[in-house]
This record gives sequence, C-alpha cells and structure tokens, in this order.
Amino acid sequence: LVDGPLAGRHAIVTSGPTHEPIDPVRYIANRSSGQQGNAIATALAGLGARVTFITGPAITPPPLGVTVVKVETAQEMLNAVTSALPADIGVFAAAVADWRMSEAATGKIKKAKGEGPPSLTLTENPDILATVSQMSEGRPELVVGFAAETDNIVENATRKRERKGCDWIVANDVSEGTGIMGGSENAVTVIDANGAESWPRATKDDVARRLAQRIAEALT
Ligand code: C5P
Repeated sequence: LVDGPLAGRHAIVTSGPTHEPIDPVRYIANRSSGQQGNAIATALAGLGARVTFITGPAITPPPLGVTVVKVETAQEMLNAVTSALPADIGVFAAAVADWRMSEAATGKIKKAKGEGPPSLTLTENPDILATVSQMSEGRPELVVGFAAETDNIVENATRKRERKGCDWIVANDVSEGTGIMGGSENAVTVIDANGAESWPRATKDDVARRLAQRIAEALT
C-alpha cells in the first residue's frame, strides 16, 4: 500500500475516447489520446489513492498501479463508473462521444448502386459527468470535469460547471495550433466556486501532479 495524502481514498478516473458502433466494422470516435487521463490516474495513485481507471479505446496504454476497466461506448463507460462507486474523487477526463447511432446496424452497411449514402440517425449519449455530479446519494466528495474549448474559455467553462453540477472544471484550449489535442503539453484554467485560476503551460504529467495535489488539499 502506498502512503500519501490520498491514502485510503478511492478515485475514479475516466479517460480516452469512446467508440460508438455504426455497424460491425465502423464507428464514431474522436482524437482523444488518453494522455491527460493516464497522467491524472498516475498522479492520484502517486499520492496514495486507490484508482479505478475507466478507459475507452485509447492509443496510449493505461498506466500501471491502477485498476483498469476497458470499455468501448459511452453507455458502457457510464455502467462501469456506476459499478465502481462509491468513490471519494471522480475525475472525468474522457472525451465521451456526444452521439451514438439510434440503432447500430447488425450487418455491414452496403454501398448500394444508385442509392447514395445512408443517413445515420443519432441519439444523444448519457452525460456521465452530469449524472454523477447530480447524484442525490453516493456522490463522490469531489467531482472534477474537463472542458475542451476553443474560445471564451473561462465563460464557457464556468457555465459548463454550473450546468453539469461538478465541483471543478479543468478547461483547456484545444484551438488549432496549440498542439494540445494529442500533444504532450497542456495549458489549463481551473474553475471552482471561487473563480478561475490559470496555470502556465506545462507537460500533461506536471498538470496532473498539480491537479492531484490540489485535490488532496481540498479533501483534507
Ligand atoms: O459537454 P462537454 O463534452 O464539453 O463536457 C466535458 C466534460 O464532461 C468532460 O469532463 C467529459 O469527460 C464529461 N462528459 C461525460 N459524458 C458525456 C459528455 C461529457 O462525462 N457524455
């Protein structure tokens, strides 16, 4: 057992993209690499927390020293999170697909001559962060969400924090040219009930360590 300020605490971390099947061979996905989620799980474990790491199909392999639960879809991710509760800390770093097919095709969708492309009917996925944040019973003591924004970062993230009901939002600028999406560095603004705090650009590992430290201070 690891010693540290988070010893005896359970943290759930979601990470990576989700894949939403269109048919047996195709899916809807996004460019999340899972690096920031990996780094957060590692940093929390480093401070002594027991970490359940719930990850979609990310390119980056999951870290060591945590319990790994692999999922594909948003619905599976929500089920895995619910099954992993209770927890003291929830950090929701996954890039969950907003939509899934209303009904995924059971056979490969064929390209039929003269018929043109198929139209895909989509349904909204459950919002895992909002679901956990708004639990009336068994809500983790501290719930942290992420917000990938391209403009009006503080304003949008502040509204997102209120809408979802989480305690903190870690907002990052994923505009083209920042190299943040898929890169090894991040520049974040942490938003809580008291306002916004911008951190200098640093490696995702350093951002994760600083966040884990802030989490430990908030709980003790
Ligand atoms: O609404 P938006 O996707 O920008 O919110 C981002 C935050 O919400 C992230 O913390 C993400 O992990 C979480 N989220 C979620 N389930 C969804 C969509 C987003 O947990 N279906």
